[in-house]
Amino acid sequence: MKPKKVILITGASSGIGRDVAKKLLAENHIIYAAARRTHLMDDLKALGAHIIKLDVTNTDSVNEAVTFIIKNEGTIDVLINNAGFATLGAIEDASLESIEYQFNVNIFGIARMLKSVLPHMRKARKGLVINIGSVAGYISPPIMGWYASTKHALKGITDSLRVEVSPLGIDVVLIEPGAIKTGFKDVSEEYLEKDAPSDDYNAMVEGFKRVLNKTYSKAPGTNTTVKAIVDCIHAKNPKIRYRTTTEAKILPILKSLICDRTFDKIFIRQIK
Ligand SMILES: NC(=O)c1ccc[n+]([C@@H]2O[C@H](COP(=O)([O-])OP(=O)(O)OC[C@H]3O[C@@H](n4cnc5c(N)ncnc54)[C@H](OP(=O)(O)O)[C@@H]3O)[C@@H](O)[C@H]2O)c1
Repeated sequence: MKPKKVILITGASSGIGRDVAKKLLAENHIIYAAARRTHLMDDLKALGAHIIKLDVTNTDSVNEAVTFIIKNEGTIDVLINNAGFATLGAIEDASLESIEYQFNVNIFGIARMLKSVLPHMRKARKGLVINIGSVAGYISPPIMGWYASTKHALKGITDSLRVEVSPLGIDVVLIEPGAIKTGFKDVSEEYLEKDAPSDDYNAMVEGFKRVLNKTYSKAPGTNTTVKAIVDCIHAKNPKIRYRTTTEAKILPILKSLICDRTFDKIFIRQIK
């Protein structure tokens, strides 16, 4: 039997993080399931997960969680940087506070996790970092620009990190889903309500909401994304990136084939 791995998952209270935790628990790995809403993880606890209260926007919270795991297990074999959400709204309408918080969770949160976990992986000369990116790392739809910019940034960070830590025995993988049914849409919509659209963007926001509802009504569940994460944990040489939904496979190719103006027109037609 393969040795168990010590796996830390951020954002394990919902969606992809929760489902991947369940799958990895079934394989007998040692799972540290981390999020702010620990009360939502009682079922993971019952399945054997260690539950950790973690806010990725708080450096002390991150460092305390990592120190606790190292004290218990001596190692972290796999870090899954999954915690994230989308601030929605026109670029101009989003308040600076919303934009800062978006980057604080989706990018600085990952910076905090990497700074805390990588020293232990470097010392062990082994480890796997799995970053949850998005098709929004390639495509930047209107009304989703600030979110998409964090996923573009994450792609850039992942590409650099992969080369930097490869000689140290650490693998880095980017998982790129398109729309999937999780808590993501509901959380995003709360943020869309927060910064009310100004008159000039109102029609576009309404059009975007229609597209969002349609997209998520037929979006797949987490299965293929969870499978990709588990596959790369099993793999001796994991792939650089895993595009996990049809949308995530097709859209970046389409974008590379047609000119940007034509791509813009597709968005404009969609949200009219
Ligand atoms: N669903 C999609 O359509 C989709 C598509 C592409 C990429 N993604 C990416 O997939 C990842 C997971 O999202 P999901 O779809 O599973 O959404 P979800 O169901 O809303 O789960 C998001 C998770 O992130 C956690 N989180 C949010 N802010 C946090 C913070 N400050 N500190 C710690 N944890 C925090 C939440 O936990 P707490 O609130 O309890 O802390 C929750 O467990 C995200 O990075 C997202 O960008 C999602």
